[in-house]
Amino acid sequence: MTRPPIEVFGTTFQNPILLASGTAGYGREVATVLDLERLGGIVTKAVSPEPRKGHAAPRVAEFPGGMLNAIGLANPGLEHVAADDLPWLDQHLHRARVIVNVVGNTIADYATVVARLSPQSVVVAFELNVSCPNTARGGEEFGADDAVLSELLRGCRAATGKPLIVKLAPTLSDVARTAESAAGAGADGFTLVNTIPGTLYRGPGVSAAASRLGNGQGGVSGPALLPVGVLATRRVHQRTKLPVIGVGGIRTIDDVMQYLEAGASLVAVGTAALADPRIPERLAESWSANG
Ligand SMILES: Cc1cc2nc3c(=O)[nH]c(=O)nc-3n(C[C@H](O)[C@H](O)[C@H](O)COP(=O)(O)O)c2cc1C
Repeated sequence: MTRPPIEVFGTTFQNPILLASGTAGYGREVATVLDLERLGGIVTKAVSPEPRKGHAAPRVAEFPGGMLNAIGLANPGLEHVAADDLPWLDQHLHRARVIVNVVGNTIADYATVVARLSPQSVVVAFELNVSCPNTARGGEEFGADDAVLSELLRGCRAATGKPLIVKLAPTLSDVARTAESAAGAGADGFTLVNTIPGTLYRGPGVSAAASRLGNGQGGVSGPALLPVGVLATRRVHQRTKLPVIGVGGIRTIDDVMQYLEAGASLVAVGTAALADPRIPERLAESWSANG
């Protein structure tokens, strides 16, 4: 028996498996190693109004629970994505869906990206990464203050009729409360979770300058995030009843089912696909075969 497709965010996903933001570029970068059309879709790498170079190397470090990354949201900028990356996705994807991940330094940055890309029909929804520093407010993350997050959502809501999915960090003091407040300001759903801040040194007894990451710290992803993401998914889904994209630590179909059981409509795979790019396709096949 095959499972029915998933109707969510005003569109149809052939299966719940997405590629997580930042781990598959804008699709083209991974198209030679996996068949995007077999997936539910792709969440693009971050898009900011201006191009970003990102942090100094090294940008990734592995440890037994997963990995650390400090990419610094490197991206080619809004105009390049609008003129080059999204047209490529539009030409090459017919069944897989495209969600655009958005970042900024200010609230206005988010609305600028959303307004510019909203008319492109290949974009089914926007994922707002609010776990990054708000430079206008001393570097506190946008998602850490309900009033700031509400203002950000209202700005984006005015800029598009397309679904707005808010991606939250698992380190918020009460992720369900933050989500409820965002829902009140126009969020259509949530992605849970982003990475957790962390660092590792190159060896014992060395200074911070000898961090294994050029930026001195980064975000933890991979297997260690699985139970964290599943709990955040359950709490936010129960509180808001809005659709959730579960992400964090997914490697196996059992991991996928954990998120779906917790209330997720879709899931996204990041770190596991960096190690083995065929994993998302295999998960999509297992999901369809286990109907
Ligand atoms: C190399 C790398 C780059 C990432 N870049 C982004 C990004 O641009 N925007 C974003 O919202 N999340 C980004 N993330 C976070 C992932 O989308 C995801 O939330 C996180 O890695 C947890 O999933 P995983 O354990 O399956 O990797 C990145 C993660 C990694 C490992």
